[in-house]
Amino acid sequence: MKQEKQRKLGCLILFGLLSATAWSESKDHAYTSESVSLGYRVYIDNCALCHGIEGNWIEGVDLSRAQFKTAVTDHDIKGVILEGAAEGRMPRFDLSDDELDGIISYIRIGFDPDGVAVKIGDPVHGATIFRGNGECSSCHRVSGHGPRTAPDLSHVGSNRTPGALSRTLLTPEKALLPINKTVTLVTTAEETFTGRRLNEDTYTVQIIDSTERLRSFKKSDLSLYEISNEPTHKPSELSDEEVADVIAYLLTLRSTR
Ligand code: HEC
Ligand code: HEC
Repeated sequence: MKQEKQRKLGCLILFGLLSATAWSESKDHAYTSESVSLGYRVYIDNCALCHGIEGNWIEGVDLSRAQFKTAVTDHDIKGVILEGAAEGRMPRFDLSDDELDGIISYIRIGFDPDGVAVKIGDPVHGATIFRGNGECSSCHRVSGHGPRTAPDLSHVGSNRTPGALSRTLLTPEKALLPINKTVTLVTTAEETFTGRRLNEDTYTVQIIDSTERLRSFKKSDLSLYEISNEPTHKPSELSDEEVADVIAYLLTLRSTR
C-alpha cells in the first residue's frame, strides 16, 4: 500500500518534471553533484580567464546571475560555447556533452561555490520525506497545498541555490533571510501578534499571523515592532542522504514562467 502510494507520487513528480521540460526547449538538467563539479572544473580551465572566477568580468554578461547578451535557454548557451561569440572575442570550444551539461549546471545553480559540494539526491524520495517524516509540509505550502505560516516553497528551486537550501536545513542560523524573520507586533491597544512579514514600507507592515490571517498595520498604531533573529528552523535531524533527497526535491520546485 505504502509502495503503491510512493509509486503514484513518483509518477506525479516525474510528470511535473517532464512538463517543466516540455515547457521550454531548455532541457531542465538534473543538477547532479557530479555534473556541477565537472562543470566547475571545466569553467575554471576554459572560461574563468575571461569571465572571471565569479563570472562577471565581461561587460553586460554576468554568468552567475544568468545575465547574458543574446542567450536565453540552455540550448542557446551551448550554442555560444560551441560556436563562440562577439566575432571571435570569445573563441569556440570543443567540449563533450558531459562537459557542456556540467558548465550549464554550474551556471544555472548560480556559481554557488558551496553548491559544488552540496549533495543532491533523489527528488522522488525527497518529496516523500517532505510530506512524511521530514514534516516540512506541516509548515510549508507548495503549489497551493499546506499552511501559509512559513514561506511558500512553490518556486524555491528557481530562487535558491543548492548551497542556500543546504544552509537552511543544516545551519539555519546562517541562512535566515530578512523577509523570513519572525516578527512580533504590539498595538497601542495592547494586542500582540506574531507572524511573518509579507510586505513592509515606510508606514505600514503586512503579516500573516500565527493563525494564517493576513493583517495590515500602520506603524504609527504599534507600540512594539520586533524582528527576531532567531530562526524557526533547527538544524535538521534527517540523515545526510535524506537531506540530499529533500534538496533534490526542492530544486524541482521551479516557476515555469
Ligand atoms: C577569450 C575570452 C573568453 C573566453 C575564454 C570565454 N568567453 Fe564567453 N564571452 C566572451 C566575450 C567577450 C563575450 C561577450 C560577447 C558579446 O559582447 O556579445 C562572452 C559572452 C559569453 C556568453 C553570453 C553570450 C550571449 O550572447 O548571450 C556566455 C553564455 C559565455 N560567454 C559563456 C562562456 C563559457 C561557458 C566559457 C567557457 C567554456 C566562455 N564563455 C569562455 C569572452 C570569452
Ligand atoms: C515548524 C515549522 C517548519 C517546519 C516543520 C519546517 N519549516 Fe522550513 N521554514 C519555516 C519558517 C518559519 C521559515 C522562515 C525562516 C525561519 O524562521 O527559520 C522556514 C524557511 C525555510 C526555507 C527557506 C525559504 C527561503 O525563502 O529561502 C526552506 C528552503 C525550508 N524552510 C525548507 C524546509 C524543509 C525542507 C523542511 C522539512 C525538512 C522544513 N522547511 C520544515 C518553518 C518550518
